[in-house]
Amino acid sequence: MCYRVTELQWNFATNLTEPNKKRMVDAQGLQTKLERVSWQKAITFSWSLLGDPQAVRQFRLIAAKGRPALPEHRLAELQKIIQEMKDIYNKAKVCPYLPSMSPYCDLSLEPDLTRTMAHSRSFEEQLHAWRSWRDAVGPKVKEKFFRYVDLANEAAKLMGYRDAGEQERALYGVVDLESQVSEVWTSAAPLYRQLHAFVRSRLRKHYAPHRISPTAPIPAHLLGNMWAQNWKNILDLVLPFPGKRRADVTPEMLRQGYTPHRMVQTADEFFTSLGLKPMPVEFWLKSLIERPPDRPVACKASAWDFCNRRDYRIKQCIEVTMEDLLTLHHEMTHIEYYLQYADQPHLFRDGANPAFHEAISDAIGLSVITPRHMHRIGLLNNITDDYETDINFLMEMALDRIAYLPFAYIVDQWRWKVFAEGGLRNSVNSAWWELRVWHQGLIPPVARSENDFDPGAKYHIIADQPYIRYFIGLVLQFQIHEALCRVAGHIGTLHTCDIYRSREAGRLLSEIMSAGNSRPWPEILRMATRGATDKLDARPLLEYFKPLSLWLRVANRDEMIGWVTTDQDTGMTNFLNIIKIVISNNIKYFLPFLNLRENKTYSNV
Ligand SMILES: *[C@@H]1O[C@H](CO)[C@@H](O)[C@H](O)[C@H]1NC(C)=O
Ligand SMILES: [Zn+2]
Repeated sequence: MCYRVTELQWNFATNLTEPNKKRMVDAQGLQTKLERVSWQKAITFSWSLLGDPQAVRQFRLIAAKGRPALPEHRLAELQKIIQEMKDIYNKAKVCPYLPSMSPYCDLSLEPDLTRTMAHSRSFEEQLHAWRSWRDAVGPKVKEKFFRYVDLANEAAKLMGYRDAGEQERALYGVVDLESQVSEVWTSAAPLYRQLHAFVRSRLRKHYAPHRISPTAPIPAHLLGNMWAQNWKNILDLVLPFPGKRRADVTPEMLRQGYTPHRMVQTADEFFTSLGLKPMPVEFWLKSLIERPPDRPVACKASAWDFCNRRDYRIKQCIEVTMEDLLTLHHEMTHIEYYLQYADQPHLFRDGANPAFHEAISDAIGLSVITPRHMHRIGLLNNITDDYETDINFLMEMALDRIAYLPFAYIVDQWRWKVFAEGGLRNSVNSAWWELRVWHQGLIPPVARSENDFDPGAKYHIIADQPYIRYFIGLVLQFQIHEALCRVAGHIGTLHTCDIYRSREAGRLLSEIMSAGNSRPWPEILRMATRGATDKLDARPLLEYFKPLSLWLRVANRDEMIGWVTTDQDTGMTNFLNIIKIVISNNIKYFLPFLNLRENKTYSNV
C-alpha cells in the first residue's frame, strides 16, 4: 500500500494533471481505510502482553497514529474542512499596493507577496502586503478552524488523549517534552534578544526613527518575511561589515561547467567519503533533477522513499547555484537516512522522532556550507577566514535560525492552548499576539482585534501540520553537528567544522540513522553524544554562535535589550492586555506584568 500510494503521489507531483491527481486521491482513500482496519485489529488484541518489545513498539505505533478512531463520516468532515481551509489559503488573492501597478486584484502569496516582503524596503508597501494577506485569509478560515479544533479534539479523545495537543506531543514519547522545549528556549532567548536589539537599531536607521521605538517591540512587517519567522532577506540592512560577504561559489561552479547531474555526483561523493552508502541504481535512473520542458511539475525539492527497499528518488529542479548545491545535500541526506534504516521493519523506517530527519539533513548542511568544505571540493581557491567575514557569515546564519527559534516555539504553544481550551473562541487572536509580543518581541503594525484571525494566515496552522518539530530540529541539528565534529576530531570553533572524509563521523551517523524509529530517541541521542545527554540542549547551538554573541554584546552597548510595550505603540489595548517586559542591559531578567489590571505576574519566560 505504501509503495502504491507513493508511486501515485510521485506521478502527480512530477506531472500535475487532473487524472494523476484523481488516481493519487483514490489510493490515499484506500490507505486510510487500511489504516482504520489495522487500528481496529490492533486495539482488540492484547499486544502489550507480548514478550517481544520490538513487536510491542510496532503495535503501539499502529494504535497511536492518525485519527482512525473517528467514525468515518466525522473523519470525512474533518478532512473536508482542512481541504477547504487549504483551498482558501492557496487561492487567496490581494490587490496591488498602488492601483497604478495593476488594475487587477490578483496577487498571490507565492510569488508576489513573498517577494514584496523580501525585497521591498518601503514601510507602507510591506504593510500593505502584510495586512491584505491577513485580511484575505484570516476571517475566512476562522469559523472552519474552530470546527476543525472540535473534530481533532474528538478524534484525540477517542484515541485516549486529553486533547489533540496531547496527541501531537505523544509522538515524541517523553513525558517532559514541554519542559525540555521551554528550557531550551529560555537558554537561547538571551541570544535572540541581542539579535533583536541589533536588528531594531539597524531598522531604525533605515526607516524613519519615529516609526520604530528603541525600547518597543519591532513592527512585525519589517523583517523580510510574511510571518517574521526568517530574517535572512534583510541581511543587506543589518550586515555587520559591509563588503565582507563570504564568497558565493556559484560563478566558480559555472566556470567549471557544473551540471545538475554533476552536482548530484558531488553530493553522492560526500556520503561515500564518510564510508556511507552511495545512491542506488534506481535513484540515478528515476530521480527528477531538472525542470522538464514538457509538463508542469511541483518543483519544491523533496526526497522520496518508495517503501520497497529499492526505489529512492529526489525531486528538485536544480539550477547550477551554490544554494541549490546545499539544498541537494539536504535532500540526499534524507535518502541516506532511508538507505540506512532500510532493513528495519516498515513501521520503524522513519526518523527517531518527527524532528530527526530534518535535524540530520541540516546538520550535514552545517558542514557543507563551510568555506573549508567548498575549498576541499575545489570550489574555493583560498579560504579567507578573517574575523569580519566570519561575523557576517554567522549573522546570516542567525537571521536564518536564531530569528526562527521563537516563531518555531510559539506556533504550537498557541495551538496546544487552543486545543486544550476547546477553541479559545473569545481570545484566540489576542492569545496569538501575546505570544508574538512576549517571545518574538514583535507588535502588529496596525491595530488587531478578535475580528482578525492572524494565526490562520500561516499555512501549517490551517493545514493541520504540527510545528514543534521545527523548533526541536533547529536545536537537535547543532547537537548532532557537535557530536559528529567531536568524533571527527575537529579542532577549533564549531562553525568552521566540516566532517567530510571522516570515517569516524560516518560510523556515528550510520549508527544514528540505521536505528530509524526502532528505539526511543533519547537513547539514540545519548548514544550519539557518547553518553553526554539524552535531552534537548541549547548549548551546542549557543557554542556555534558564540563569536557572534560576543560581537553583538559590544555592538549593542547603547541599546536596550528587550522591549517594553505601551498603549501608544501597540494600538491594540482594546483587546490585548498590556504586556510589559523590561530586560536590563546587562543582567538578564524580566519584570513582566501580564494582565496588569488583574495584577497577575508571570516570571517563567
Ligand atoms: C502525464 O500524465 C498523463 C496522464 O494524465 C499521461 O498521459 C502522460 O503520459 C504523463 N506524462 C509523462 C511525461 O509521464
Ligand atoms: Zn528536509
